[in-house]
Amino acid sequence: MTESAEAKPRRSRVWVLLAVIVVSAAASAAITALVANIADRKVEGKSTYTQVVALTNTTYDPAVWGQNFPVQYEAYKKTAEFTPTAHSTELVPVTEARFENDPETRTETTASKIQADPRLVTMWSGYAFAIDYRHLRGHEYMLLDQQMTLRVLQKDQPGACLNCHASIPEVVATLGNGDDAAGWATMNKTPYKEVTTLATHPITCIDCHDAETMELRITRPALIEGLKALKASEGIADYDVNRDATNEEMRTYVCAQCHVEYYFAGDGKTLTFPWAKGTDIDDVWDYYTEIGFTDFTHKVTEAGVVKAQHPEFEAWSAGVHAANGVSCADCHMSYQRVGAQKVSNHDVASPMADVNASCGTCHTASEQVIKDRVTTIQNRFIESRDRALDSLTQLIAAIEKAKSDGTPADRIAAAQAYQNKASFYIDYAYSENSFGFHAPDYFQRIITESLDASRKGQLALLGVSEADMAPSDVAQANTAAILESGLK
Ligand code: HEC
Ligand code: HEC
Ligand code: HEC
Ligand code: HEC
Ligand code: HEC
Repeated sequence: MTESAEAKPRRSRVWVLLAVIVVSAAASAAITALVANIADRKVEGKSTYTQVVALTNTTYDPAVWGQNFPVQYEAYKKTAEFTPTAHSTELVPVTEARFENDPETRTETTASKIQADPRLVTMWSGYAFAIDYRHLRGHEYMLLDQQMTLRVLQKDQPGACLNCHASIPEVVATLGNGDDAAGWATMNKTPYKEVTTLATHPITCIDCHDAETMELRITRPALIEGLKALKASEGIADYDVNRDATNEEMRTYVCAQCHVEYYFAGDGKTLTFPWAKGTDIDDVWDYYTEIGFTDFTHKVTEAGVVKAQHPEFEAWSAGVHAANGVSCADCHMSYQRVGAQKVSNHDVASPMADVNASCGTCHTASEQVIKDRVTTIQNRFIESRDRALDSLTQLIAAIEKAKSDGTPADRIAAAQAYQNKASFYIDYAYSENSFGFHAPDYFQRIITESLDASRKGQLALLGVSEADMAPSDVAQANTAAILESGLK
């Protein structure tokens, strides 16, 4: 979480900024410069505009908003252009057709991650991700890429998938006939192939902004409920993000509507964020273990396994930028000067595409030094990640062998439980899309935990007891002290 866990209404923003400036005056010169910079940028961010059309909360078409806000609209449309990164360098041709009798096809998309890394197919054996899993790209494609993934074309999926891949307000209003809560419930449980035909746009202005005030707003029930549960776990009752969050927090929360780990709860397929114990991976793991949730049964080992997905918000929450109040928008929608105005870049992409704009406002090191720093963090992450993923695939092979060589069932059951943990932890690191950048040390802890679970799974197959694998007295005392500090 951001350090401002204590909720402040957005109206008191000016006082917050003043407080920040006063506090920073006492801090070191470097930090003063950084914080003041953050504050300046926020004040300048408030720009005036000429209203050409009246917008309401049923103006769904972004082109209409674009008449009032041409600069933001033009940048928003640029998410259709591919932005290469170090790990996703080019688009590849594809030829699938969408649904039956639908002539529309996709001619190119991002490269396949499972083709590049067959260990993923081993990890997800029996699950839809083993059929198709690709690099992400710009927001303009979120709906098309979902409609055309083999995970949808070859498997039945619930309408709940649509939550993060389309502009939702219109879909929910149509399905609920004016009752949005009912419309949302219907969308979640209706087959994906039916509800996706109601979607007319990928994410648009109305998903993040209130049409009348242009304030940021949260439109996704899963985040509203997820944050309520999270805050309750921190002792804050009845949290309402749209009422209680600061503007600074909203610059992250609008992204946390989608860039998070999630699951579909119950027969209603209710999109749910597993945060009732916290957003740290250990809290999420405890949550899933307690409710006995798994996503799939592994085809080779028959272990029940939880699949992790894009926990960008949770990882960011564990990092140094969150601790300093630096939001997703600060790096991914950095300010640009257009004429006399400073506007937020609505071409949301990798910050590495323009390091000076994204990082240079706070960091004074040269562009090359900053780039090398990011590359080093990502390279170290990949090396550690690879050790752990190799270990998991070796555990899977060992369980497969044990199932046919007369190894006792209790040993196999213990190894299956370790497989689930090793898999969830390394999957979380793999499917977070920053290659470790958002919280480097947090990811090292996660990778180590996965590696340890794979190791224990292999030992369990050999008959080593839980007692013999228990943490030492020193390790237990250290863990207790770390928990006591509240700074895990
Ligand atoms: C909580 C929000 C959320 C839900 C629900 C969701 N997605 Fe996504 N999805 C994302 C985000 C964020 C990305 C981009 C990050 C990434 O690719 O890891 C993404 C990426 C994708 C991609 C492109 C990359 C890839 O995985 O090949 C596909 C396809 C996709 N999702 C399909 C689905 C399907 C099918 C469902 C339902 C089972 C679903 N999504 C449900 C948030 C969500
Ligand atoms: C993913 C969420 C998201 C979407 C979608 C989105 N915006 Fe924004 N927008 C933001 C954020 C974050 C800010 C910064 C707000 C702040 O700091 O108060 C912002 C700021 C703005 C501002 C204030 C001036 C500025 O540039 O900082 C305008 C005007 C605006 N957006 C218009 C639009 C329009 C028009 C669209 C649709 C074409 C749109 N936005 C789509 C997140 C979004
Ligand atoms: C409605 C759900 C949703 C919201 C809200 C959302 N995203 Fe995304 N985002 C996605 C999906 C889905 C993709 C992948 C699309 C694809 O691969 O087709 C994606 C892709 C991206 C990418 C990759 C872009 C590229 O060019 O490769 C970045 C970066 C990103 N999002 C950051 C953000 C940030 C920052 C915010 C908040 C300002 C945000 N997103 C808000 C769903 C969302
Ligand atoms: C301090 C700057 C910073 C902040 C804050 C930040 N990110 Fe990132 N993000 C990065 C960098 C750097 C990368 C790595 C980009 C690359 O590899 O090209 C990245 C990668 C990503 C990617 C994958 C982009 C791609 O094109 O491959 C997504 C998605 C993303 N971030 C979403 C978020 C979300 C959501 C938040 C807030 C919860 C956030 N980021 C906060 C700097 C930041
Ligand atoms: C709004 C200001 C701001 C922006 C924008 C920003 N940073 Fe930072 N960054 C900070 C602050 C504050 C710290 C913590 C400094 C400290 O504690 O000394 C930090 C720390 C870091 C660290 C040290 C990480 C660690 O774990 O100790 C790295 C690396 C970094 N930033 C890279 C980046 C990159 C790359 C970008 C652009 C993608 C970026 N930052 C954008 C403010 C910012």
